[in-house]
Amino acid sequence: MRKIFLILCLAFCTIATGCTNESEQKASVQLLFPNPNSGIWKYIGELCAKLMREANYDVELRFCNNSNDQITQLEDAIEKNPAAIVIGAQDAGALAEPLKLAKEKEIPVIAYDRLIMHTDAISYYASFENNSVGEFQARYVEEKLNLKSGAGPFTIEFIAGSPDDMNAPLFFNGAFDYLKPYIDKGQLVVPSGQMTFSAVATDGWKPATAQQRMTDILQKFYADGKSLNVVIAANDDLAEALIKAEEAVGYKGTPTILTGQDAGANGIANIKAGKQTMTIYKDPEILCGKIVRMVKAVVEGSQPAINDVTNIKNDVMTVPSYLCIPMIVDKENIGIVKNFN
Ligand code: BGC
Repeated sequence: MRKIFLILCLAFCTIATGCTNESEQKASVQLLFPNPNSGIWKYIGELCAKLMREANYDVELRFCNNSNDQITQLEDAIEKNPAAIVIGAQDAGALAEPLKLAKEKEIPVIAYDRLIMHTDAISYYASFENNSVGEFQARYVEEKLNLKSGAGPFTIEFIAGSPDDMNAPLFFNGAFDYLKPYIDKGQLVVPSGQMTFSAVATDGWKPATAQQRMTDILQKFYADGKSLNVVIAANDDLAEALIKAEEAVGYKGTPTILTGQDAGANGIANIKAGKQTMTIYKDPEILCGKIVRMVKAVVEGSQPAINDVTNIKNDVMTVPSYLCIPMIVDKENIGIVKNFN
Protein backbone atom coordinates (compact mmCIF):
# COMPACT_ATOMS: atom_id res chain seq x y z
CA MET A 1 0.00 0.00 0.00
CA ARG A 2 2.76 2.38 1.08
CA LYS A 3 4.64 1.48 -2.11
CA ILE A 4 1.63 2.36 -4.30
CA PHE A 5 1.19 5.59 -2.38
CA LEU A 6 4.86 6.51 -2.98
CA ILE A 7 4.60 5.68 -6.69
CA LEU A 8 1.49 7.83 -6.99
CA CYS A 9 3.20 10.66 -5.15
CA LEU A 10 6.22 10.43 -7.41
CA ALA A 11 4.02 10.40 -10.51
CA PHE A 12 2.15 13.45 -9.22
CA CYS A 13 5.37 15.30 -8.32
CA THR A 14 6.79 14.51 -11.73
CA ILE A 15 3.75 15.99 -13.44
CA ALA A 16 3.67 19.01 -11.12
CA THR A 17 7.34 19.96 -11.20
CA GLY A 18 8.62 18.63 -14.48
CA CYS A 19 10.67 15.66 -13.38
CA THR A 20 12.58 14.76 -10.24
CA ASN A 21 15.46 13.33 -12.23
CA GLU A 22 15.63 16.43 -14.34
CA SER A 23 15.98 18.61 -11.27
CA GLU A 24 19.09 16.65 -10.32
CA GLN A 25 20.52 17.49 -13.73
CA LYS A 26 19.76 21.19 -13.73
CA ALA A 27 22.56 23.26 -15.23
CA SER A 28 24.37 25.18 -12.50
CA VAL A 29 25.00 28.90 -12.64
CA GLN A 30 27.32 30.87 -10.40
CA LEU A 31 26.21 34.45 -9.72
CA LEU A 32 28.86 36.80 -8.35
CA PHE A 33 27.84 40.32 -7.38
CA PRO A 34 29.52 43.38 -5.85
CA ASN A 35 29.23 44.68 -2.33
CA PRO A 36 25.51 44.64 -1.52
CA ASN A 37 25.77 47.87 0.48
CA SER A 38 26.33 49.91 -2.67
CA GLY A 39 23.58 50.91 -5.10
CA ILE A 40 20.81 48.31 -5.20
CA TRP A 41 23.04 45.29 -5.74
CA LYS A 42 21.39 43.24 -3.01
CA TYR A 43 18.02 43.59 -4.68
CA ILE A 44 19.49 42.91 -8.14
CA GLY A 45 21.42 39.82 -7.05
CA GLU A 46 18.43 38.27 -5.35
CA LEU A 47 16.15 39.07 -8.29
CA CYS A 48 18.58 37.51 -10.78
CA ALA A 49 18.89 34.40 -8.64
CA LYS A 50 15.09 34.14 -8.44
CA LEU A 51 14.62 34.52 -12.21
CA MET A 52 17.41 32.05 -12.87
CA ARG A 53 15.82 29.49 -10.55
CA GLU A 54 12.46 30.04 -12.21
CA ALA A 55 14.19 29.25 -15.52
CA ASN A 56 15.20 25.94 -13.93
CA TYR A 57 18.86 26.60 -13.19
CA ASP A 58 20.66 25.52 -10.09
CA VAL A 59 21.96 28.81 -8.72
CA GLU A 60 24.61 29.84 -6.24
CA LEU A 61 24.50 33.56 -5.43
CA ARG A 62 27.31 35.43 -3.72
CA PHE A 63 27.98 39.02 -2.86
CA CYS A 64 31.49 40.17 -2.01
CA ASN A 65 32.78 42.67 0.51
CA ASN A 66 35.70 43.80 -1.60
CA SER A 67 37.74 42.98 -4.67
CA ASN A 68 39.94 40.28 -3.06
CA ASP A 69 36.85 38.64 -1.73
CA GLN A 70 35.38 38.50 -5.23
CA ILE A 71 38.58 37.04 -6.68
CA THR A 72 38.39 34.20 -4.12
CA GLN A 73 34.70 33.67 -4.89
CA LEU A 74 35.46 33.55 -8.61
CA GLU A 75 38.25 30.99 -8.15
CA ASP A 76 35.88 28.87 -6.12
CA ALA A 77 33.09 29.28 -8.71
CA ILE A 78 35.42 28.15 -11.52
CA GLU A 79 36.49 25.17 -9.42
CA LYS A 80 32.87 23.98 -9.44
CA ASN A 81 32.73 23.78 -13.27
CA PRO A 82 29.35 25.51 -13.61
CA ALA A 83 27.50 25.79 -16.91
CA ALA A 84 27.93 29.59 -16.73
CA ILE A 85 29.25 32.34 -14.47
CA VAL A 86 27.58 35.75 -14.23
CA ILE A 87 29.67 38.53 -12.72
CA GLY A 88 28.85 42.02 -11.56
CA ALA A 89 32.47 43.07 -11.09
CA GLN A 90 33.59 44.71 -7.88
CA ASP A 91 36.78 45.93 -9.56
CA ALA A 92 36.78 45.93 -13.37
CA GLY A 93 40.53 45.42 -13.60
CA ALA A 94 41.03 42.68 -11.00
CA LEU A 95 39.40 39.62 -12.56
CA ALA A 96 41.50 38.95 -15.67
CA GLU A 97 43.91 36.58 -13.93
CA PRO A 98 41.36 34.20 -12.35
CA LEU A 99 39.28 34.32 -15.55
CA LYS A 100 42.13 32.67 -17.49
CA LEU A 101 41.16 29.35 -15.95
CA ALA A 102 37.47 29.88 -16.82
CA LYS A 103 38.53 30.33 -20.42
CA GLU A 104 40.74 27.25 -20.29
CA LYS A 105 37.85 25.21 -18.92
CA GLU A 106 35.51 26.78 -21.53
CA ILE A 107 33.13 28.06 -18.88
CA PRO A 108 31.02 30.87 -20.39
CA VAL A 109 31.29 34.13 -18.46
CA ILE A 110 28.69 36.89 -18.71
CA ALA A 111 29.39 40.37 -17.39
CA TYR A 112 26.44 41.98 -15.60
CA ASP A 113 26.09 45.77 -15.79
CA ARG A 114 29.82 46.44 -15.28
CA LEU A 115 32.35 45.62 -17.98
CA ILE A 116 35.34 43.45 -17.04
CA MET A 117 38.71 44.62 -18.36
CA HIS A 118 41.93 43.05 -19.70
CA THR A 119 40.43 39.64 -20.54
CA ASP A 120 39.19 37.69 -23.54
CA ALA A 121 37.17 35.33 -21.35
CA ILE A 122 33.86 37.20 -21.61
CA SER A 123 31.11 35.64 -23.74
CA TYR A 124 28.58 38.46 -23.39
CA TYR A 125 27.90 41.70 -21.57
CA ALA A 126 24.48 43.07 -20.65
CA SER A 127 24.01 46.54 -19.25
CA PHE A 128 22.24 49.83 -19.78
CA GLU A 129 23.46 52.58 -22.07
CA ASN A 130 25.73 53.98 -19.40
CA ASN A 131 26.61 57.10 -21.34
CA SER A 132 22.90 57.85 -21.63
CA VAL A 133 22.54 57.70 -17.84
CA GLY A 134 24.73 60.79 -17.51
CA GLU A 135 23.29 62.44 -20.59
CA PHE A 136 19.73 62.00 -19.31
CA GLN A 137 20.72 63.61 -16.00
CA ALA A 138 22.19 66.53 -17.96
CA ARG A 139 19.19 66.88 -20.27
CA TYR A 140 16.93 66.99 -17.23
CA VAL A 141 18.95 69.86 -15.77
CA GLU A 142 19.00 71.63 -19.14
CA GLU A 143 15.22 71.50 -19.28
CA LYS A 144 14.53 72.47 -15.65
CA LEU A 145 16.86 75.46 -15.84
CA ASN A 146 15.82 76.56 -19.32
CA LEU A 147 19.40 76.48 -20.46
CA LYS A 148 18.42 76.29 -24.13
CA SER A 149 16.85 79.74 -23.78
CA GLY A 150 20.08 81.15 -22.41
CA ALA A 151 19.14 81.23 -18.70
CA GLY A 152 21.89 81.47 -16.08
CA PRO A 153 24.41 81.71 -14.61
CA PHE A 154 23.79 78.77 -12.29
CA THR A 155 26.30 77.06 -10.04
CA ILE A 156 26.94 73.34 -10.48
CA GLU A 157 29.10 70.61 -8.93
CA PHE A 158 29.70 66.98 -9.87
CA ILE A 159 29.93 63.81 -7.76
CA ALA A 160 31.09 60.83 -9.81
CA GLY A 161 31.42 57.13 -9.00
CA SER A 162 34.40 54.87 -8.48
CA PRO A 163 37.40 54.71 -10.85
CA ASP A 164 37.50 50.90 -10.62
CA ASP A 165 34.01 50.74 -12.16
CA MET A 166 34.07 51.25 -15.94
CA ASN A 167 30.54 52.67 -15.78
CA ALA A 168 31.57 55.59 -13.58
CA PRO A 169 33.53 57.61 -16.20
CA LEU A 170 30.76 56.89 -18.73
CA PHE A 171 28.16 58.36 -16.37
CA PHE A 172 30.35 61.40 -15.72
CA ASN A 173 31.31 62.00 -19.35
CA GLY A 174 27.72 61.53 -20.49
CA ALA A 175 26.63 64.36 -18.21
CA PHE A 176 29.69 66.60 -18.40
CA ASP A 177 30.09 66.53 -22.18
CA TYR A 178 26.43 67.39 -22.61
CA LEU A 179 26.65 70.35 -20.22
CA LYS A 180 30.10 71.56 -21.31
CA PRO A 181 28.79 74.05 -23.92
CA TYR A 182 26.77 75.74 -21.16
CA ILE A 183 29.86 75.85 -18.95
CA ASP A 184 31.84 77.36 -21.83
CA LYS A 185 29.15 80.00 -22.34
CA GLY A 186 29.09 80.85 -18.62
CA GLN A 187 25.48 79.74 -18.11
CA LEU A 188 26.81 77.09 -15.75
CA VAL A 189 29.71 77.83 -13.42
CA VAL A 190 31.66 75.39 -11.28
CA PRO A 191 32.93 77.38 -8.25
CA SER A 192 35.10 74.50 -6.98
CA GLY A 193 36.77 74.25 -10.38
CA GLN A 194 36.53 70.43 -10.11
CA MET A 195 35.60 69.39 -13.63
CA THR A 196 37.51 66.22 -14.44
CA PHE A 197 36.49 62.66 -13.66
CA SER A 198 39.51 62.13 -11.43
CA ALA A 199 38.79 65.31 -9.46
CA VAL A 200 35.16 64.39 -8.74
CA ALA A 201 35.38 60.56 -8.53
CA THR A 202 34.39 58.73 -5.34
CA ASP A 203 36.54 55.69 -4.49
CA GLY A 204 34.40 52.59 -4.00
CA TRP A 205 31.23 54.67 -4.53
CA LYS A 206 31.50 55.41 -0.78
CA PRO A 207 28.88 57.94 0.35
CA ALA A 208 31.01 58.99 3.35
CA THR A 209 33.86 59.98 1.01
CA ALA A 210 31.51 62.02 -1.19
CA GLN A 211 29.91 63.64 1.85
CA GLN A 212 33.31 64.78 3.10
CA ARG A 213 34.25 66.20 -0.30
CA MET A 214 30.95 68.04 -0.64
CA THR A 215 31.15 69.36 2.93
CA ASP A 216 34.56 70.87 2.10
CA ILE A 217 33.20 72.35 -1.13
CA LEU A 218 30.12 73.84 0.58
CA GLN A 219 32.23 75.41 3.32
CA LYS A 220 34.79 76.80 0.92
CA PHE A 221 32.69 77.94 -2.04
CA TYR A 222 29.09 78.25 -0.85
CA ALA A 223 29.37 80.06 2.49
CA ASP A 224 27.09 82.99 3.44
CA GLY A 225 23.94 81.67 1.76
CA LYS A 226 25.49 81.36 -1.71
CA SER A 227 23.38 78.92 -3.75
CA LEU A 228 24.48 75.58 -5.13
CA ASN A 229 21.95 75.31 -7.93
CA VAL A 230 22.77 71.90 -9.39
CA VAL A 231 24.57 68.76 -8.32
CA ILE A 232 25.05 65.94 -10.80
CA ALA A 233 25.37 63.01 -8.41
CA ALA A 234 26.07 59.74 -10.21
CA ASN A 235 23.69 57.62 -8.12
CA ASP A 236 21.18 57.84 -5.29
CA ASP A 237 23.77 57.01 -2.60
CA LEU A 238 25.94 59.91 -3.72
CA ALA A 239 22.89 62.19 -3.95
CA GLU A 240 22.16 61.33 -0.34
CA ALA A 241 25.75 62.22 0.52
CA LEU A 242 25.11 65.74 -0.80
CA ILE A 243 21.84 65.99 1.17
CA LYS A 244 23.70 65.02 4.36
CA ALA A 245 26.54 67.45 3.64
CA GLU A 246 24.06 70.30 3.12
CA GLU A 247 22.25 69.41 6.34
CA ALA A 248 25.51 69.20 8.25
CA VAL A 249 26.81 72.61 7.17
CA GLY A 250 23.37 74.24 7.50
CA TYR A 251 23.17 75.05 3.78
CA LYS A 252 20.95 78.09 3.27
CA GLY A 253 20.88 78.65 -0.51
CA THR A 254 18.00 77.83 -2.82
CA PRO A 255 17.11 74.11 -3.17
CA THR A 256 19.62 72.23 -5.24
CA ILE A 257 18.52 70.37 -8.37
CA LEU A 258 19.95 67.00 -7.46
CA THR A 259 20.27 64.02 -9.80
CA GLY A 260 20.69 60.36 -8.91
CA GLN A 261 20.54 56.88 -10.37
CA ASP A 262 19.07 53.47 -9.49
CA ALA A 263 15.60 54.44 -8.20
CA GLY A 264 16.69 52.72 -4.99
CA ALA A 265 14.98 52.93 -1.61
CA ASN A 266 16.92 56.05 -0.58
CA GLY A 267 16.43 57.76 -3.96
CA ILE A 268 12.69 57.13 -4.02
CA ALA A 269 12.29 58.33 -0.41
CA ASN A 270 14.40 61.44 -1.04
CA ILE A 271 12.48 62.32 -4.21
CA LYS A 272 9.19 61.96 -2.36
CA ALA A 273 10.55 64.15 0.45
CA GLY A 274 11.62 66.80 -2.09
CA LYS A 275 15.31 66.41 -1.20
CA GLN A 276 16.41 64.79 -4.47
CA THR A 277 15.01 65.94 -7.80
CA MET A 278 15.32 62.96 -10.11
CA THR A 279 16.84 59.54 -10.54
CA ILE A 280 17.65 57.26 -13.45
CA TYR A 281 15.63 54.08 -13.43
CA LYS A 282 17.35 51.00 -14.78
CA ASP A 283 14.66 48.38 -14.28
CA PRO A 284 16.53 45.38 -12.82
CA GLU A 285 13.88 43.01 -14.11
CA ILE A 286 14.73 43.98 -17.70
CA LEU A 287 18.45 43.44 -17.24
CA CYS A 288 18.14 40.24 -15.21
CA GLY A 289 15.74 38.96 -17.89
CA LYS A 290 18.39 39.60 -20.55
CA ILE A 291 20.98 37.81 -18.46
CA VAL A 292 18.75 34.76 -18.03
CA ARG A 293 18.34 34.60 -21.82
CA MET A 294 22.11 34.94 -22.31
CA VAL A 295 22.73 32.12 -19.85
CA LYS A 296 20.14 29.98 -21.63
CA ALA A 297 21.88 30.62 -24.95
CA VAL A 298 25.37 29.74 -23.74
CA VAL A 299 24.11 26.63 -21.98
CA GLU A 300 22.21 25.48 -25.08
CA GLY A 301 24.92 26.59 -27.49
CA SER A 302 22.65 29.06 -29.29
CA GLN A 303 22.90 32.84 -29.90
CA PRO A 304 21.23 35.29 -27.48
CA ALA A 305 19.82 38.59 -28.73
CA ILE A 306 22.50 41.28 -28.73
CA ASN A 307 22.28 44.84 -29.97
CA ASP A 308 25.90 46.02 -29.90
CA VAL A 309 28.79 44.21 -31.55
CA THR A 310 31.16 47.12 -32.04
CA ASN A 311 31.24 49.61 -29.18
CA ILE A 312 31.99 47.66 -26.03
CA LYS A 313 35.74 47.12 -25.91
CA ASN A 314 37.67 46.00 -22.85
CA ASP A 315 41.17 46.59 -24.33
CA VAL A 316 41.54 42.93 -25.30
CA MET A 317 38.29 42.15 -27.10
CA THR A 318 35.07 43.64 -28.41
CA VAL A 319 32.39 42.17 -26.20
CA PRO A 320 29.04 41.24 -27.80
CA SER A 321 26.54 43.14 -25.72
CA TYR A 322 22.95 43.98 -25.05
CA LEU A 323 22.47 47.54 -23.84
CA CYS A 324 19.08 48.56 -22.42
CA ILE A 325 17.73 52.09 -22.34
CA PRO A 326 17.43 53.81 -18.94
CA MET A 327 14.57 56.11 -17.93
CA ILE A 328 14.26 59.44 -16.15
CA VAL A 329 12.13 59.36 -13.01
CA ASP A 330 11.09 62.32 -10.89
CA LYS A 331 8.13 63.20 -8.65
CA GLU A 332 5.78 63.26 -11.65
CA ASN A 333 6.27 59.67 -12.83
CA ILE A 334 7.70 58.00 -9.72
CA GLY A 335 4.80 55.52 -9.79
CA ILE A 336 6.42 53.63 -12.68
CA VAL A 337 9.18 52.34 -10.38
CA LYS A 338 8.15 48.83 -9.43
CA ASN A 339 10.03 48.58 -6.18
CA PHE A 340 10.92 50.70 -3.17
CA ASN A 341 7.77 52.78 -3.73
C1 BGC B 1 25.91 50.73 -11.41
C2 BGC B 1 25.01 51.69 -10.68
C3 BGC B 1 25.32 51.70 -9.20
C4 BGC B 1 26.81 51.85 -8.96
C5 BGC B 1 27.18 51.75 -7.49
C6 BGC B 1 27.34 51.03 -11.09
O1 BGC B 1 28.18 50.18 -11.76
O2 BGC B 1 25.69 50.81 -12.81
O3 BGC B 1 23.68 51.34 -10.91
O4 BGC B 1 24.65 52.75 -8.56
O5 BGC B 1 27.52 50.90 -9.69
O6 BGC B 1 26.91 50.51 -6.97
